Amino acid sequence: MSKNPIGLFDSGVGGTSIWKEVHHLLPHENTIYLADSKNAPYGLKGKDKIIELSIKNTEFLLEKDCKLIVVACNTATTNAIKTLRSKYDVPFIGIEPAIKPAALQTQTKAIGILATKGTLSSELFSNTSALYGSGINVIEQHGEGIVQLIETGKLYSEEMKALLKLYLEPMIQANIDHLVLGCTHYPYLMPLLLEILPEHIKIIDSGEAVARQTKNVLQQNRLLNTSTQQSSTKFYSNSNPEVMQSLLGNHFTAEYLAF
Ligand code: DGL
Repeated sequence: MSKNPIGLFDSGVGGTSIWKEVHHLLPHENTIYLADSKNAPYGLKGKDKIIELSIKNTEFLLEKDCKLIVVACNTATTNAIKTLRSKYDVPFIGIEPAIKPAALQTQTKAIGILATKGTLSSELFSNTSALYGSGINVIEQHGEGIVQLIETGKLYSEEMKALLKLYLEPMIQANIDHLVLGCTHYPYLMPLLLEILPEHIKIIDSGEAVARQTKNVLQQNRLLNTSTQQSSTKFYSNSNPEVMQSLLGNHFTAEYLAF
């Protein structure tokens, strides 16, 4: 069982930013990554639809004998992980916007959260925000259009730059000192964010924490792959695999798969 793959899914290519962290920490784990790009963005869909798609993705990965599933999508985690955990026996690791470290570290008492509409309107997010955000100016911004631009290969476009300036300018004016990236597509924006944001604003994402949590849960369940052999990795996308390929580089191959 420990040699079985870890499964990861996202509404699209963004969760590969999480896969990179998981693979970096656990290089001998076999992995299967599923991008449901055909249905991206999830962030504009209702909770029921997000649950339905998350179930479909999970069943695909379980058919491939995955021993643990990483929901590499904030929108799917905040809307569907509770249902997934109650329905299936495998362990699930989710990802949520890292409000806690930002709220604990802020000096200016102002933090920015950039996430999808589906994440910002979820119950899980409002509970976390209420828990850690009291006494702090939490500026929530729905990153409308960002996922679509990334999914269509326009990551470093002028259009993207303009959109980010529009979303971040009010946060800069409000004197935030932390920006929380609440969507797994957004770590790919890092070069643009560094260009736009003043140097003192710290950018926080949850990728590394997800990888550490994945390792802990594998250990607790005695599922860690102790082999020292080269691991196998599969990347599947049901639309535009070339976009995922451009994010993966030459060492890995993105395959088209109808699902
Ligand atoms: N990567 C997804 C997330 O973390 C993007 C959601 C979407 O498809 O809108 O939320």
